[in-house]
Amino acid sequence: MCGIFAYLNYCVPRTRKEIFETLVKGLQRLEYRGYDSAGIAVDGPGKTTTDINGNTICLIKKKGKVKALDEELYKKDSLDLDEELGTHFGLAHTRWATHGEPSAINSHPHRSDKNNEFVVIHNGIITNYKELKEYLVIKGYEFESETDTEVIPKLVKYVYDNRENDGVGFSTLVERVIQQLEGAFALVFKSRHFPGEAVATRRGSPLLIGVRSEQELLTENIPIQYNSVQEKNSRNRSDSTNSINSVGDGSAVEYYFASDASAIIEHTKKVLYMEDDDIALVADGKLSIHRINRQAGEDPVRAIQTLQMELQQIMKGNFQSFMQKEIFEQPDSVVNTMRGRICFDSNTVVLGGLKDHLKEIKRCRRLMMIGCGTSFHAAVATRQILEELTEVPVMVELASDFLDRSTPVFRDDVCFFISQSGETADTLMALRYCKDHSALTVGITNTVGSSICRETDCGVHINAGPEIGVASTKAYTSQFVALVMFALMMSEDRLSLQTRRLEIINGLRMLSELINKVLGLDEKIKDIANEMYQNRSLLVMGRGFNYATCLEGALKIKEITYMHSEGILAGELKHGPLALIDKDMPVIMIIMRDGCYTKCQNALQQVTARSGRPIIICCQDDPEITKNAYQTIELPHIVDCLQGILSVIPLQLLSFHLAVLRGYDVDFPRNLAKSVTVE
Ligand code: G6P
Repeated sequence: MCGIFAYLNYCVPRTRKEIFETLVKGLQRLEYRGYDSAGIAVDGPGKTTTDINGNTICLIKKKGKVKALDEELYKKDSLDLDEELGTHFGLAHTRWATHGEPSAINSHPHRSDKNNEFVVIHNGIITNYKELKEYLVIKGYEFESETDTEVIPKLVKYVYDNRENDGVGFSTLVERVIQQLEGAFALVFKSRHFPGEAVATRRGSPLLIGVRSEQELLTENIPIQYNSVQEKNSRNRSDSTNSINSVGDGSAVEYYFASDASAIIEHTKKVLYMEDDDIALVADGKLSIHRINRQAGEDPVRAIQTLQMELQQIMKGNFQSFMQKEIFEQPDSVVNTMRGRICFDSNTVVLGGLKDHLKEIKRCRRLMMIGCGTSFHAAVATRQILEELTEVPVMVELASDFLDRSTPVFRDDVCFFISQSGETADTLMALRYCKDHSALTVGITNTVGSSICRETDCGVHINAGPEIGVASTKAYTSQFVALVMFALMMSEDRLSLQTRRLEIINGLRMLSELINKVLGLDEKIKDIANEMYQNRSLLVMGRGFNYATCLEGALKIKEITYMHSEGILAGELKHGPLALIDKDMPVIMIIMRDGCYTKCQNALQQVTARSGRPIIICCQDDPEITKNAYQTIELPHIVDCLQGILSVIPLQLLSFHLAVLRGYDVDFPRNLAKSVTVE
């Protein structure tokens, strides 16, 4: 949901062309966050007669993907590409439209006035923009876009023009402005009045700063999993010897500002995650951080951390798309989720980030699993095994609906927030709501340092590695595994459940190998896609442990193929969906050898009796199914509660092949964004 990238080189000479390349590369890494338009702000050519302090700022914005912007950059004859800029600060942004259609004028950076005195890039949403705009219009400011963002640079200029003395610094201006803003934001500012300076701030939207310098930076390696609340919170401890108030001694240095580490990793692994209401200022090559309304003597201390991510993890390699790569990474990503947590010799499971809270969790009166989209489906997929192994009622909730209902939450509830990005606005709001109601909050995220990971009491990092494809795949299977591990940990001392636990642990032991076998069906699934890619609709039906697969499979299909697709609980077939069935309606049915086998076969009879011709996802060598002339996708058998991990993969592959055959861009589905940071 909008990607922010900015690059400051201090005493490191770079040609304008190199700066363009860095900005565009940064945007390409963030394009999954939004891709309807993009723009940059850089210093303009040398001195002009109309300039202020000898500086001009040039804005280049373009509707469409980053590629379109990239082409546009080289059409600007006025900009000398070979001009070397010793110190320079450039902004870049890729947009996912919320206020105003995708267009050059609505895209970022937004500006204070026609002279581009202040320009800004924004991720998030300003909820009081109408009031601010009204006020600024009365004061004579002219607006050119339909966005909420535009009030921000206008407001900076207003504060600047009305300052009482000339000594007001860039960060003070921004500090005054953000006190007037409501909503969520990550912002980076550039100004003609403050050449070579950068100001960045955030509230509710992610922002981090990468530092590349010859200077020895103090570092702290943050463990990839939550170890305990104490350890987690110690990242912000002000007495930490590894923490800093400022970076840089005025010697050559480069800074990278981004919404996501994937845009920074190829430049540096040393990063600093900003916290809400932090204001970062780079001036004379030095980075300092302070907080709004700080008390005298109180300075925030932020640690420079070392990213664990590798560049290779965010490259497509030999795959056609990130989604395809991520589907094929699942044999490894599920192992990474289990690594160091399950001991297959002693059959024990320890989730380091939860162990200190286990007693409290065991005493809870219910578990609430809250998420959006695919992450919600991970909760649906594991609800049954969670109920079985914890013997505690489990509610699964879509975050938006949970908030709409002002759901009653109590202090003896334990609320899980499941989110790949850890930034989804609805999930984050639900988390804050549950905290206000004194429930214990647990994060299940894939993004270290994300808002959900920082704001929950404890949690589990799923460690699936960066997921770039908008349609979530490997994060789903890893969330699934993480929640099953939680159920196993909760039931460790329950004698009556030991046989069941062993069966599941054995399933997890074989999981990677079995996923590989399912991926071996890719060619067959491609053939099936070839037969059905011209259809307009596709139903996916199942029940019990595989119901979530139907929801998730249908979501994948609609997200990237734009076909109508519905995940149907087979138990509901007679109550409506049966009316859709005829010989032309494509139906996929999931019929595995589990507690719902007979009921699923009944559903199959009801479908075939109405001339339906379903494709059946079933267990290998199931004679009851394979003796008939059905088209089948046969999967290896695994314990019932893990079968959903295997059964979702054919549908991930199917949606991928359907999208390719229908000629769509798999990684950039229309109208969607990976990280939805607006409610
Ligand atoms: C968006 C994405 C989905 C994702 C959902 C929740 O809608 O397009 O793929 O499942 O957000 O995201 P989260 O990061 O919270 O898991």
